[in-house]
Amino acid sequence: MDELIVNQSGYIQLKKFDDGDDGHLSIIEAMKDIPFEIKRVYYINNLKNVTSVRGHHAHKKLYQAIFCINGSFLLGLDDGKNRQKILVDNDNVGFIIGPGLWHTMSQFSNETVILVAASDYYDETDYIRDYDDFLLWIENNQI
Ligand code: TYD
Repeated sequence: MDELIVNQSGYIQLKKFDDGDDGHLSIIEAMKDIPFEIKRVYYINNLKNVTSVRGHHAHKKLYQAIFCINGSFLLGLDDGKNRQKILVDNDNVGFIIGPGLWHTMSQFSNETVILVAASDYYDETDYIRDYDDFLLWIENNQI
C-alpha cells in the first residue's frame, strides 16, 4: 500500500470472511473499524462515464470513510500542501477523509460502487467547494 503523505487521512483495513463459492462478507463497525460514530451512509453507483469526476471539495468538520466495494477508481487527495493520487481497488481497504482534505474521485472502472460512512448528517455549509477558498481556509485553520 502507498504511504499516505497527506494530513487528515488514513487507511482502514476491514475484516473479511471468505466463504468460497458463497461469496465474501465484509464488516464495518463504528468506533472499531472507523474512528467515529456513523450518522450517515451513502453510496455512489451508475458511474457510466470513465471521464466522470466527483468530489472536488473539502469539508470543515466532517469525517468520512470511503470504500470502493466494487470496481476501482483514482482518489486524489490534497491537504493544501501535499497531494497524492491513490488507485482504490481493494474492497477491504478504505480511506479516512478528514476535515480540510480536498478530494476528487475519477477514472472509474465499469460497475464501480463507492460506499461512504460519514460522521454527521448532510450539511451544505460544511462544504468548501471552491479551491481558492479551500487554500484560504487551510491558511486560517490549524488542523
Ligand atoms: P456531493 O457531496 O457534491 O457529491 P460528490 O462529492 O460525490 O461529487 O453531493 C452531490 C449532491 O448530492 C449535492 O448537491 C447535495 C446532495 N447530497 C445530499 O443531499 N445528501 C448527501 O448526503 C450527499 C453526500 C449529497
